[in-house]
Amino acid sequence: MVENILDQIDVNKLPNHIAIIMDGNGRWAKKRSLPRVVGHEYGVKSVRLVAETAAKLGVKHLTLYTFSKENWNRPQLEVKAIMTLLVRTIRNEVKTLQKNNIRLKTIGDIDSLPADALRELKEAMELTKNNSRMDLILALNYSARWDIIQATKKIATDVLNKTIDVNEIDEAMISKNLSTSCLPEPELLIRTSGEYRISNFMLWELAYGEFYFTDVFWPEFDQNAFYKAVLDYQKRERRFGKTSEQVK
Ligand code: IPE
Ligand code: IPE
Ligand code: MG
Repeated sequence: MVENILDQIDVNKLPNHIAIIMDGNGRWAKKRSLPRVVGHEYGVKSVRLVAETAAKLGVKHLTLYTFSKENWNRPQLEVKAIMTLLVRTIRNEVKTLQKNNIRLKTIGDIDSLPADALRELKEAMELTKNNSRMDLILALNYSARWDIIQATKKIATDVLNKTIDVNEIDEAMISKNLSTSCLPEPELLIRTSGEYRISNFMLWELAYGEFYFTDVFWPEFDQNAFYKAVLDYQKRERRFGKTSEQVK
């Protein structure tokens, strides 16, 4: 089954950047009468599998929405468990990242993360900084509106300091000031768990992104599910406002 879907994928038409809203850990656990945190633990297995699968396929950038600004509003015990899991996972997975030649990056307000999480992240980013097969970007303490606000503040400061003129502000300048400036815009956004919303993720960058939704809960999202999303993307016609005839 996996081979069949993989055979249909055109490796010359891969999205350069795939972003994933990893959703459904809690419901996956609830369905099994397990605590929500067990769902997050199983979600880590999917992260490992999908990162490896994407790298092998030839995807260059994979962004995973890992923790949103809004997720701080969850019960404190769950937030604490997620942060502990984050620290443990980064520590354990560095070897796998090295083996797979994957570079770890982050987007979001990481300086406001708990100190131990920040330390592990910085260490892992430093250790993997010369890896070149794929960038794995964790969106941590991220929200798109936060990012747009911090970019706006930087640009406004430049105007006040007369480093730039108001009329110089354009799309490129805004993109350059977002925490995603090191990344191309995602061509494909995947959201698992049957929710059809964007939940404050890459509002600017996804202006022309292709969306793919699946009912599969994140802990069950496997190679096959990933290939299906890529295949679906390859069947789309991206028009960017033009007519079908113009882009043929
Ligand atoms: C996604 O799974 C993980 C995070 C948002 C941290 P959820 O925890 O949102 O799972 P559901 O949506 O409650 O099932
Ligand atoms: C989005 O999932 C955030 C992450 C996957 C990190 P949520 O589960 O937090 O989103 P909502 O609240 O259902 O929109
Ligand atoms: Mg959710």
